[in-house]
Order: sequence, then structure tokens, then C-alpha cells
Amino acid sequence: MSFKSKVVIVTGSSAGIGAAIAIAFSREGADVVITGRNRERLEKVAEECKVHQSPLVIRADLTNDRDVEEIVKKTIEKHGKIDILVNNAGIVQLSSLVDDTFIKAFDQVAQINLRAVIKMTNSVTPHIIATKGNIINISSVSGRQLYAYQYTVYGMLKASLDYFTQGAALELGKYGVRVNAVSPGPVETDIKPDSNPEYKRPTFPTVLQRYSTAEEIGDVVLFLASDKANGITGSNYTVDNGYLLVKS
Ligand SMILES: NC(=O)c1ccc[n+]([C@@H]2O[C@H](COP(=O)([O-])OP(=O)(O)OC[C@H]3O[C@@H](n4cnc5c(N)ncnc54)[C@H](OP(=O)(O)O)[C@@H]3O)[C@@H](O)[C@H]2O)c1
Repeated sequence: MSFKSKVVIVTGSSAGIGAAIAIAFSREGADVVITGRNRERLEKVAEECKVHQSPLVIRADLTNDRDVEEIVKKTIEKHGKIDILVNNAGIVQLSSLVDDTFIKAFDQVAQINLRAVIKMTNSVTPHIIATKGNIINISSVSGRQLYAYQYTVYGMLKASLDYFTQGAALELGKYGVRVNAVSPGPVETDIKPDSNPEYKRPTFPTVLQRYSTAEEIGDVVLFLASDKANGITGSNYTVDNGYLLVKS
């Protein structure tokens, strides 16, 4: 699957799933833009991309609208176009309705998991229309099946993201732009709630009795971003090792 001469922005590519997606696109010859807040981790991922193709590295906080606009501006300055956007950056916060954590978690998680996706999508839209490119949102099976009440904020915002994916696909389709989502089940990354350093990730049940690697999520993203998926828009691809079957 060659992405030679394609310009790809991957948010949250300093770690985990985003890093794997950025490295996979680089391997296929794309001009990748990697972005996150942590300089050290960004540099590490840049080194891995460089083996194949040098990335553009932009340090940015996606909760800041000006930073989002800078990502788009710098990408256009360097490459003159944008073909693919992967909205991957995301956080988890656990919360409860019987203390004051729910509203705090909602404000924090909504900023990055939903508002930043909308702002990023909005900012790239004219450029993606110009290339008839495509957008992929990294959602979660939590948007369809709640694991536990502590994950309500995370799950409801992923459910909203799924609606946003459909709405964007519906609106941008007439310009030849495809918009899809990938919903992973548990993936082996370091994601954990910022507020709780003691947090021990639960063991999530799966039919296949395994978790996906970040690279496996990258494989599905590359497929959806490629010409092989020309007929696919508004879809939400589940990669969960059968987690939803066990949970339902
Ligand atoms: N891991 C799983 O089991 C799993 C399952 C289903 C869905 N997902 C989804 O997959 C996506 C990636 O998760 P992951 O497991 O790879 O998480 P991760 O390893 O914690 O990586 C999260 C990425 O998001 C970036 N990020 C967070 N806040 C940011 C901000 N304010 N501004 C800019 N970048 C920010 C981080 O960069 P910096 O820290 O450098 O800013 C990092 O690159 C998320 O949307 C998550 O909801 C994960």
C-alpha cells in the first residue's frame, strides 16, 4: 500500500497507537506530520519514522485552538497540501457522580477527545476537499458498550465522536472526501487516567484472549486511508478481538 507523496497528519503521535500509525505511514512513503506535547517522545518517534521518511515534527497542545491552526499552517507551508488526517489523540479520566469528579473529567476529556477533533477537522477541511482526501477518527468500543460507570465520560464522548464521524462523512461526501472511524478494544499502550498514578488497568475480557497491538490498529487505519477503501465512508471499524461479543 503505497502512500508516496501523500501528506498525512497524525495527532497524538508521540506515543501508543498514534506513534504506530505515523511509523506505518512513513514506512509506506508518506510525508507524515507528527504532533503531541512531549518533545522527548516526539523526537523518539521521529527517529523511528526517519528510517523510512523524515517527518515534520510539530509540538502542539490540541486543547489550544491556535496550536491546532499552527499544525495546519506549518503543514501547508512545508508540503502545500493535506491528504489524510488521523484524529487519534485522546485521554481517559475516571469519574463518579457522587463526588465532584464527573464534571471535571467531562470538561477535560471533552476538550481533547471531542472538541480538538472538531477543531482539527474544521481546520483541515478546505485542504482535504482540495485533495479529495480522507479523515480517520480513532474512537473506541467504549462508545458502544460501557465497561463500568467510571468510564461513562470517556464512553459518552466516544459515542459523540461516532456521530461526528457520520455527520462529517455525510457533509463532506459530496466533495469526494471520505470520513471513517476505527474503534479499538483494549490495546497494549501506556494510556491511563492522569489523575490517578496508582491506576491499575483492569483485565478486559476478549474472545481471542488477547489484546491488539498499536501496529494492528495502524494496519486498519492504513487500509481505510488507502484507495482500496474508496467505497468506504461513514463506517466504524471494530478491532477488539471479540471484546464486544463477551461484554454484550
Ligand atoms: N489503548 C487502548 O486500549 C485504546 C482503546 C480504544 C481506543 N483508544 C483510543 O486510541 C487513541 C490513542 O490512545 P493510546 O492508547 O495510544 O494513548 P497514549 O499512549 O496515552 O497516547 C495518547 C497520545 O495523545 C496525545 N495527547 C494527549 N493529550 C494531548 C493534548 N492535549 N494535546 C496534544 N496531544 C495530546 C499524547 O501526546 P503528549 O502526551 O505528547 O501530548 C499521546 O501522543 C485515543 O483516542 C484512545 O481513546 C485506545
